Amino acid sequence: MKVIALVGSLRRDSYNMKIAKFMKERYKDKLDIEILLPDLPIFNEDIENNPPIEVVNFKEKIKASEGVLIVSPEYNHSIPGGLKNALDWCSRVDRVLAKKPVFIVGASNGNVGTARSQMDLRTVLNSPGINAYVLPSNLVLIPNVNKLFNETDEFIDDRTIKYLDKVVDNFIDWSKKFS
Ligand SMILES: Cc1cc2nc3c(=O)[nH]c(=O)nc-3n(C[C@H](O)[C@H](O)[C@H](O)COP(=O)(O)O)c2cc1C
Repeated sequence: MKVIALVGSLRRDSYNMKIAKFMKERYKDKLDIEILLPDLPIFNEDIENNPPIEVVNFKEKIKASEGVLIVSPEYNHSIPGGLKNALDWCSRVDRVLAKKPVFIVGASNGNVGTARSQMDLRTVLNSPGINAYVLPSNLVLIPNVNKLFNETDEFIDDRTIKYLDKVVDNFIDWSKKFS
Protein backbone atom coordinates (compact mmCIF):
# COMPACT_ATOMS: atom_id res chain seq x y z
CA MET A 1 0.00 0.00 0.00
CA LYS A 2 1.48 3.32 -1.13
CA VAL A 3 1.37 5.80 1.77
CA ILE A 4 2.54 9.39 2.04
CA ALA A 5 3.85 10.24 5.52
CA LEU A 6 3.37 13.92 6.13
CA VAL A 7 5.70 15.10 8.91
CA GLY A 8 4.53 18.23 10.71
CA SER A 9 7.96 19.44 11.84
CA LEU A 10 10.61 20.96 9.57
CA ARG A 11 13.20 20.82 12.36
CA ARG A 12 16.47 19.12 11.34
CA ASP A 13 16.50 16.73 14.32
CA SER A 14 12.73 16.33 14.54
CA TYR A 15 11.55 13.42 16.69
CA ASN A 16 8.43 13.16 14.55
CA MET A 17 10.63 12.75 11.47
CA LYS A 18 12.62 10.06 13.30
CA ILE A 19 9.39 8.23 14.10
CA ALA A 20 8.23 8.52 10.48
CA LYS A 21 11.57 7.03 9.36
CA PHE A 22 11.25 4.31 12.00
CA MET A 23 7.78 3.42 10.66
CA LYS A 24 8.98 3.46 7.04
CA GLU A 25 11.60 0.85 7.91
CA ARG A 26 9.59 -1.27 10.37
CA TYR A 27 6.51 -1.61 8.15
CA LYS A 28 8.27 -1.81 4.79
CA ASP A 29 6.70 -5.23 4.06
CA LYS A 30 3.21 -3.79 4.56
CA LEU A 31 3.44 -0.15 3.59
CA ASP A 32 5.44 1.64 0.92
CA ILE A 33 5.97 4.91 2.83
CA GLU A 34 7.27 8.07 1.19
CA ILE A 35 8.00 10.93 3.59
CA LEU A 36 6.95 14.47 2.66
CA LEU A 37 7.42 17.78 4.45
CA PRO A 38 4.68 20.41 4.30
CA ASP A 39 7.23 23.06 3.38
CA LEU A 40 4.99 25.06 1.03
CA PRO A 41 4.32 28.74 0.30
CA ILE A 42 1.48 30.21 2.32
CA PHE A 43 -1.92 29.47 0.84
CA ASN A 44 -3.52 32.36 -0.99
CA GLU A 45 -6.90 32.04 -2.62
CA ASP A 46 -5.81 34.49 -5.36
CA ILE A 47 -3.38 31.89 -6.74
CA GLU A 48 -5.24 28.69 -5.93
CA ASN A 49 -5.97 27.99 -9.62
CA ASN A 50 -2.35 28.51 -10.61
CA PRO A 51 -0.38 27.43 -7.54
CA PRO A 52 3.43 27.30 -7.16
CA ILE A 53 5.08 24.19 -8.59
CA GLU A 54 5.96 22.87 -5.09
CA VAL A 55 2.24 22.83 -4.29
CA VAL A 56 1.41 21.08 -7.57
CA ASN A 57 4.03 18.38 -6.90
CA PHE A 58 2.98 17.97 -3.28
CA LYS A 59 -0.69 17.53 -4.18
CA GLU A 60 0.16 15.11 -7.00
CA LYS A 61 1.99 12.84 -4.54
CA ILE A 62 -0.94 12.84 -2.14
CA LYS A 63 -3.36 12.19 -4.97
CA ALA A 64 -1.34 9.20 -6.21
CA SER A 65 -1.14 7.62 -2.74
CA GLU A 66 -3.54 5.04 -1.33
CA GLY A 67 -3.36 6.52 2.15
CA VAL A 68 -1.77 9.25 4.25
CA LEU A 69 0.01 9.03 7.59
CA ILE A 70 0.38 12.29 9.50
CA VAL A 71 3.23 12.33 12.05
CA SER A 72 3.25 15.67 13.77
CA PRO A 73 4.14 17.55 16.93
CA GLU A 74 1.77 19.93 18.69
CA TYR A 75 2.53 23.65 18.50
CA ASN A 76 0.85 25.87 21.09
CA HIS A 77 -1.81 23.26 21.72
CA SER A 78 -2.74 22.90 18.07
CA ILE A 79 -1.62 21.96 14.53
CA PRO A 80 1.80 23.35 13.42
CA GLY A 81 1.22 26.17 10.95
CA GLY A 82 3.11 24.57 8.07
CA LEU A 83 1.00 21.43 8.27
CA LYS A 84 -2.25 23.40 8.50
CA ASN A 85 -1.15 25.44 5.48
CA ALA A 86 -0.54 22.26 3.45
CA LEU A 87 -3.99 20.96 4.46
CA ASP A 88 -5.51 24.26 3.32
CA TRP A 89 -3.88 23.82 -0.13
CA CYS A 90 -5.29 20.29 -0.25
CA SER A 91 -8.79 21.56 0.55
CA ARG A 92 -9.18 23.65 -2.61
CA VAL A 93 -9.52 23.15 -6.40
CA ASP A 94 -8.18 19.57 -6.67
CA ARG A 95 -9.26 18.25 -3.26
CA VAL A 96 -6.67 15.51 -3.04
CA LEU A 97 -7.45 14.38 0.50
CA ALA A 98 -11.14 13.80 -0.17
CA LYS A 99 -12.07 10.20 0.71
CA LYS A 100 -8.39 9.42 1.34
CA PRO A 101 -7.75 7.08 4.29
CA VAL A 102 -5.62 8.88 6.88
CA PHE A 103 -4.11 7.89 10.22
CA ILE A 104 -2.35 10.05 12.76
CA VAL A 105 0.70 9.69 15.00
CA GLY A 106 2.05 12.49 17.17
CA ALA A 107 5.05 12.97 19.45
CA SER A 108 5.82 15.87 21.75
CA ASN A 109 8.03 16.73 24.68
CA GLY A 110 4.96 17.49 26.79
CA ASN A 111 2.94 15.09 28.93
CA VAL A 112 -0.11 14.78 26.69
CA GLY A 113 1.75 13.72 23.56
CA THR A 114 -0.13 15.94 21.06
CA ALA A 115 -3.65 15.01 22.30
CA ARG A 116 -4.89 18.57 21.82
CA SER A 117 -3.45 19.02 18.33
CA GLN A 118 -4.76 15.63 17.24
CA MET A 119 -8.29 16.66 18.18
CA ASP A 120 -7.87 19.80 16.06
CA LEU A 121 -6.34 17.77 13.25
CA ARG A 122 -9.34 15.42 13.21
CA THR A 123 -11.70 18.42 13.09
CA VAL A 124 -9.80 19.91 10.13
CA LEU A 125 -9.57 16.59 8.26
CA ASN A 126 -13.35 16.16 8.71
CA SER A 127 -14.14 19.58 7.24
CA PRO A 128 -16.15 19.55 3.99
CA GLY A 129 -13.22 20.99 1.98
CA ILE A 130 -10.90 18.20 3.06
CA ASN A 131 -13.32 15.33 3.77
CA ALA A 132 -10.60 12.77 4.49
CA TYR A 133 -11.50 9.41 6.02
CA VAL A 134 -9.68 9.38 9.36
CA LEU A 135 -9.06 6.08 11.14
CA PRO A 136 -11.40 6.23 14.16
CA SER A 137 -10.00 5.75 17.67
CA ASN A 138 -6.37 4.43 17.43
CA LEU A 139 -4.92 7.51 19.11
CA VAL A 140 -1.13 7.30 18.94
CA LEU A 141 0.06 9.83 21.49
CA ILE A 142 3.78 9.79 22.25
CA PRO A 143 4.57 12.04 25.24
CA ASN A 144 8.04 12.96 26.54
CA VAL A 145 9.50 11.80 23.25
CA ASN A 146 12.95 13.22 24.03
CA LYS A 147 13.40 10.33 26.51
CA LEU A 148 12.44 7.57 24.07
CA PHE A 149 15.56 7.33 21.90
CA ASN A 150 18.83 5.61 22.87
CA GLU A 151 22.35 6.95 22.40
CA THR A 152 22.44 5.67 18.81
CA ASP A 153 19.18 7.47 18.10
CA GLU A 154 16.97 4.37 17.88
CA PHE A 155 13.35 4.57 18.98
CA ILE A 156 13.19 2.24 22.00
CA ASP A 157 9.71 2.69 23.45
CA ASP A 158 8.44 -0.92 23.32
CA ARG A 159 4.95 -0.07 24.50
CA THR A 160 4.45 2.46 21.70
CA ILE A 161 6.08 0.17 19.14
CA LYS A 162 3.67 -2.68 20.02
CA TYR A 163 0.75 -0.28 19.80
CA LEU A 164 1.99 1.08 16.45
CA ASP A 165 2.12 -2.52 15.13
CA LYS A 166 -1.59 -2.86 15.97
CA VAL A 167 -2.55 0.55 14.62
CA VAL A 168 -0.80 -0.09 11.30
CA ASP A 169 -2.68 -3.40 10.93
CA ASN A 170 -5.93 -1.68 11.90
CA PHE A 171 -5.29 1.02 9.30
CA ILE A 172 -4.56 -1.50 6.54
CA ASP A 173 -7.73 -3.54 7.34
CA TRP A 174 -9.96 -0.49 7.73
CA SER A 175 -8.73 1.25 4.57
CA LYS A 176 -9.66 -1.80 2.43
CA LYS A 177 -13.26 -0.58 2.72
CA PHE A 178 -12.37 2.42 0.58
CA SER A 179 -10.27 0.81 -2.15
C1 LIG B 1 6.38 26.75 18.50
C2 LIG B 1 6.36 25.57 19.43
C3 LIG B 1 5.22 25.30 20.18
C4 LIG B 1 5.18 24.17 21.01
N1 LIG B 1 4.02 23.87 21.64
C5 LIG B 1 3.91 22.69 22.29
C6 LIG B 1 2.65 22.26 22.82
O1 LIG B 1 1.66 22.93 22.71
N2 LIG B 1 2.59 21.06 23.44
C7 LIG B 1 3.70 20.25 23.58
O2 LIG B 1 3.58 19.17 24.13
N3 LIG B 1 4.90 20.63 23.10
C8 LIG B 1 5.03 21.81 22.45
N4 LIG B 1 6.24 22.20 21.94
C9 LIG B 1 7.42 21.36 22.17
C10 LIG B 1 7.48 20.22 21.16
O3 LIG B 1 6.79 19.11 21.70
C11 LIG B 1 8.93 19.82 20.91
O4 LIG B 1 9.66 20.94 20.43
C12 LIG B 1 9.02 18.68 19.92
O5 LIG B 1 10.33 18.18 19.94
C13 LIG B 1 8.63 19.13 18.53
O6 LIG B 1 8.59 18.04 17.66
P1 LIG B 1 9.81 17.70 16.68
O7 LIG B 1 10.91 17.10 17.55
O8 LIG B 1 9.24 16.68 15.74
O9 LIG B 1 10.26 18.96 16.01
C14 LIG B 1 6.31 23.33 21.12
C15 LIG B 1 7.46 23.62 20.37
C16 LIG B 1 7.48 24.72 19.54
C17 LIG B 1 8.73 24.99 18.71
